[in-house]
Amino acid sequence: MSIIKLARPEIQALSAYKAAAQVDDTVRLNANESPQDTSIGNFRRPLNRYPEVRPRRLQEALAARFGCATDQLLVTRGSSEAIDLIIRTFCRAGRDNVVIPSPSFSMYAHYAEVQGAEIKEVPALAERDFHIDVDALLDACNEATKLVFICSPNNPTGTPILRDDVLRLIQQRSETSAVVVDEAYIEFGDQASMIDLLDEFPNLLVLRTLSKALGFAGARCGAVAGSEDVISMLNAVQAPYALATPVVECVEDVLQADQLALAEESVREVVAERERLIAAIDEFEFVRKVWPSDANFFLMRVTDPAFILQHCIAHKVLLRHFDGDLSDCIRITVGSRADNNRLLQALRTMVEK
Ligand SMILES: Cc1ncc(COP(=O)(O)O)c(C=O)c1O
Repeated sequence: MSIIKLARPEIQALSAYKAAAQVDDTVRLNANESPQDTSIGNFRRPLNRYPEVRPRRLQEALAARFGCATDQLLVTRGSSEAIDLIIRTFCRAGRDNVVIPSPSFSMYAHYAEVQGAEIKEVPALAERDFHIDVDALLDACNEATKLVFICSPNNPTGTPILRDDVLRLIQQRSETSAVVVDEAYIEFGDQASMIDLLDEFPNLLVLRTLSKALGFAGARCGAVAGSEDVISMLNAVQAPYALATPVVECVEDVLQADQLALAEESVREVVAERERLIAAIDEFEFVRKVWPSDANFFLMRVTDPAFILQHCIAHKVLLRHFDGDLSDCIRITVGSRADNNRLLQALRTMVEK
C-alpha cells in the first residue's frame, strides 16, 4: 500500500515546479540567464546556465551505487536536506508527530521542531547498550505518528540497529507511518543496507550521504531512497536546481572507480584506527565505559567530562559533548593516525599532571 495518503494533503496535491526547458543545441532565451559564459575553474558545464532541475546522471550513478532504481532516489543537499524534506512533506504543524529513539541524531528533532511537529522521544538505554526498544517505540506511536526515525549505526552511540528490530517497526507501522532508516555511517560497519527492502515495504525510506565514508562533507550531497511515488512527492517539495553545477561535477568525479577505491581504503584505515583508539582509550583510568561502534566515532563515559574537554581544547583537540542523559559522555571522531596520536598524547599529559 502506498503511504502517499499519509502526507500533508496540500503536498499530495502539489505538482513539481515547472522549470524552463533545457534542450541541447538550442539558443536558451527562456530562463533569464546571462549570455556571458562566466565559467571559472574547470567545470564541464557553463556556470552562466542553471544546472538541471534534478541532476539525472548523478541520480543514476547514486542509485546504482546504493542499489535501487533511479526513480526510487532523490539527490539532496546532504542527507540533512532529506530529513527536512521528509518532515515537511508528512507532518502537519501542531497535529502530527515523529517518534525518535533517544539518544540519536539531533537533526530529526530539530527539523520536526522547525515544522511544528510533536517530538516523541523513546529512551534507548545505556544499560542495554543503546539498542532500540521496539515495543516502547510502537507504544509511543499513535494515529498522528507520521514518521519513525531510526539511525543505524546510531549517532552518537555507534550502535548498529538490528535489522529484525527495524523490520518489525516497518511491518507494524506499514499502513500508518513511514520508517526512515538513516544509514549515514553504514560503510564503517558490517551491516547490510536496508535499501534492498524498498520494493517490499512502501513505508521504508533510506537516507544515505557522501559526507562520511566518501569524504565529501564539503560538497553537501546525500540522497533519500524510497518508493517511486513517495520520491516523486519529495521531488515536488525540493527546491528546483537544488544541486549546484560545481557540486554535481565534483560528485560525478568522486564516483569514478579510482576515487571510490581511495574512499574504501580510507574507510578500512578509519575502522582499524577506531579499534586501536578504543583499545588505547579503554586503558585510561578516567574512562568508565567505551561502547563498541560500527561508525567513524565512538562514545565513552568518563569521570570528569568538562575537565577532559578543556584539557583537550588546550591541546587544540576538539571532542564532542552532549547535554542530558549523555552529560557524562564524550564522543570521539576517529581521525587520521596522526590526529589520533595527538589525542592520545594530550590524554597522557592529562593523567601525568
Ligand atoms: C546520522 C546522521 N545523519 C545525517 C547526517 C547529515 O549528514 P549530511 O547532511 O552531511 O549528509 C549526519 C551528520 O553528521 C548524521 O550524523
